[in-house]
Amino acid sequence: MELQRFLRIRTSHILLLLVFGFLSLKAAECRRHRILEAFDYPATSCRAHTVSLTDFGGVGDGSTSNTKAFQEAITHLSQFSSNGGGQLFIPAGKWVTGSFNLTSAFTLYLHKDAVILGSQDMNEWPLIDPLPSYGRGRDAPGGRYSSLITGSNLTDVVITGDNGTIDGQGALWWQKFHSKKLKYTRGYLIELMYSNQILISNLQLINSPSWNVHPVYSSNIIVKGITIIAPVRSPNTDGINPDSCTNVRIEDCYIVSGDDCVAIKSGWDEYGISFGMPTKQVIIRRLTCISPTSAVIALGSEMSGGIQDVRAEDIHAIDSESGVRIKTAPGRGGFVKDIYVRGFTMHTMKWAFWMTGSYGSHADGKYDPNAIPVIESISYSNVIAENVTMAGRLEGIQNAPFTGICISNTTIGMAVKAKKLPWTCTDIQGVSSSVSPPPCPLLRDQGPQAGPCPYPTERLAIDEVEMTTCTYSISHL
Ligand SMILES: *[C@@H]1O[C@H](CO)[C@@H](O)[C@H](O)[C@H]1NC(C)=O
Ligand SMILES: *[C@@H]1O[C@H](CO)[C@@H](O)[C@H](O)[C@H]1NC(C)=O
Ligand SMILES: *[C@@H]1O[C@H](CO)[C@@H](O)[C@H](O)[C@H]1NC(C)=O
Ligand SMILES: *[C@@H]1O[C@H](CO)[C@@H](O)[C@H](O)[C@H]1NC(C)=O
Ligand SMILES: *[C@@H]1O[C@H](CO)[C@@H](O)[C@H](O)[C@H]1NC(C)=O
Repeated sequence: MELQRFLRIRTSHILLLLVFGFLSLKAAECRRHRILEAFDYPATSCRAHTVSLTDFGGVGDGSTSNTKAFQEAITHLSQFSSNGGGQLFIPAGKWVTGSFNLTSAFTLYLHKDAVILGSQDMNEWPLIDPLPSYGRGRDAPGGRYSSLITGSNLTDVVITGDNGTIDGQGALWWQKFHSKKLKYTRGYLIELMYSNQILISNLQLINSPSWNVHPVYSSNIIVKGITIIAPVRSPNTDGINPDSCTNVRIEDCYIVSGDDCVAIKSGWDEYGISFGMPTKQVIIRRLTCISPTSAVIALGSEMSGGIQDVRAEDIHAIDSESGVRIKTAPGRGGFVKDIYVRGFTMHTMKWAFWMTGSYGSHADGKYDPNAIPVIESISYSNVIAENVTMAGRLEGIQNAPFTGICISNTTIGMAVKAKKLPWTCTDIQGVSSSVSPPPCPLLRDQGPQAGPCPYPTERLAIDEVEMTTCTYSISHL
């Protein structure tokens, strides 16, 4: 007689079915143990085929390298790219891996107790060419290490999970960076190049060797519900860096980092100018940031392909150096224009507003000093800040002022040890309305009746993209 028992345990997203098969009560020691896991999650697209990393020999013991298992599983799933799509399930466990490439029509799904660990063997991060729009690596001239999770020329990629973790184990790389022992530029945690339709959601990203999320030369990107944590003194651990990308939506993210929480970029000096690919149509909303040494949202410093139409709304900063900061320099070329910020609370800041036209930091000596960036039409409204050392430090470029700056409905509570002069402004032009403490005269006060600074009313295409619920059950031993 066969006897089966089903045990159901439901958590918020996971339904765990433990199926115990007994051949007979007398032979209970021969029972087979199958785990059938069912889960559902929101995503932009669902897949017809799912495999588990363990089907390809994955070992989640925190020390065995799974690079081959990841790559073989994904190569297997790539056959479904034009046939329903493939999904790789990462079960609970600690899965060490070096860099691996994704494929199109593909989902990487992490169980809530899954941890992907970046390999501590640098040979597991193969060398690749520098980005054409940078001309060289950022840490060192020449090539760079691959990113941990990467892909090029892909369409429709989802990286998600039930708040599972990707841990770059970056300390090794930070030490090498600090001791100037890096021959090549560090890899990132996630980098997708020349790709379209990307969703990165519901994950924790910790201890990246360098930047965390780097979409580059890509479009239609959603980054949602991501927690990013890195020590606040770790070098260049930026959160999310859209770089020469169009149609980007970043929402519901919590970021603690050693560098900018979000940094919008588009290439470096003469390399970025000749590549000529801007970042545009970007939405950032419901972002909470802790970044004691850097900006909540940086525009630049690499902005040589241009940055246009960025909308930041409902942003919260705690203990950060500056708010939405423009960083540029003669030699960068390009532009930063049509930037809209509305609804920003800040607590403990060095500078609530900061723009820098003399950032320097050139790729090499071959930049054109006459390539002057154009900075115009930058709006901030509904800002409340507390415990601020300096309200604003707005420095444009001599003979090429930053123009069309507007600040309205802004109240800045100064710190006990604040600078005597709350605002300093040079080489900028603009207006203000209902700003306290009163800004510098270069931001001409329009009076309280002037109304808010401009903010676009038409929606961006990326705002129309909706999620569906994907439901799966998979069995594995
Ligand atoms: C990923 O694919 C690219 C080619 O698109 C290749 O250059 C690179 O070495 C691959 N990376 C890994 C880790 O296999
Ligand atoms: C990816 O696309 C870019 C731009 O279209 C192209 O230059 C590059 O050769 C492609 N790379 C691969 C590996 O197909
Ligand atoms: C994900 O994990 C982080 C860190 O443990 C936690 O703060 C956050 O609330 C979690 N998010 C969700 C949606 O469960
Ligand atoms: C001014 O900003 C505050 C805080 O963001 C907001 O609650 C208020 O509605 C704004 N006032 C106007 C007139 O927009
Ligand atoms: C205000 O900021 C200073 C640093 O500038 C910090 O030491 C202090 O704790 C902050 N005070 C409050 C009340 O947050």
